[in-house]
Amino acid sequence: MQKLPKHIAIIMDGNGRWAEQKKLPRFKGHEEGARRVRAITEECADIGIKQLTLYALSTENMLKRPKIEKDFLMELLKLYLRKERGTFMKNGIIFKTIGRIWELPQDVQAEINKLKKTTSANRKMVLCLALNYSGRAEIVDAVNGILARAKTGKTAAKVTEKELSRYFYDPKMPEPDLLIRTGGELRISNFLLWQVAYTELWVTPTLWPDFTVGTLYEAMQEYSKRHRRFGGL
Ligand code: IPE
Ligand code: IPE
Ligand code: MG
Repeated sequence: MQKLPKHIAIIMDGNGRWAEQKKLPRFKGHEEGARRVRAITEECADIGIKQLTLYALSTENMLKRPKIEKDFLMELLKLYLRKERGTFMKNGIIFKTIGRIWELPQDVQAEINKLKKTTSANRKMVLCLALNYSGRAEIVDAVNGILARAKTGKTAAKVTEKELSRYFYDPKMPEPDLLIRTGGELRISNFLLWQVAYTELWVTPTLWPDFTVGTLYEAMQEYSKRHRRFGGL
């Protein structure tokens, strides 16, 4: 493969439908979905991808799904953060998050902070989880960050794209080269609105719990054939 993306972002959709197809409760789909993450993470680290960003939970999911599903997702997340520590350390992976983490339950925040600390000296790849994330909220939070700083008189007189992006959840995050959406929907669902301006998009009908390393290679193969122009010729 001639051209490997440096940063892959994935909208992991279709857990519920996967479960419905099998006449299982929705939570079984989330469980199987969480299990899928390890193989994909390890493959990406192995072949030299620099960042993998996974949309695990949107702000809208938190606002609009029944409490029982949200509670289950919080428990599943805590389990993941504990269970996968070995995967992160074995593969040299730094753990990061984007989203309104401060709105998550305290015990979830504690697990997040613990894993961030444990993995902070790793160097091989970044795994970033988007949790309680909304692209619009990220831009609004950045604007409010600038306004708060302006009160101290320490901001530039004019906002530029570069200045605004300094206030994003992870100011150092590179823009994704490839965005994969599983589950077949042709929409962004409030993910990384600013950052995907020139990202290559790839959608597969495969539901997230059925996503394999093979599907990942299909996406990367397609990516390697794309001609990125960034508005140029
Ligand atoms: C994606 O799966 C995971 C989350 C949003 C938490 P869904 O739960 O959206 O699954 P579908 O889209 O209903 O199949
Ligand atoms: C996007 O999926 C969010 C995640 C995968 C975490 P949704 O299932 O929430 O998106 P919509 O509702 O189909 O747009
Ligand atoms: Mg969905």
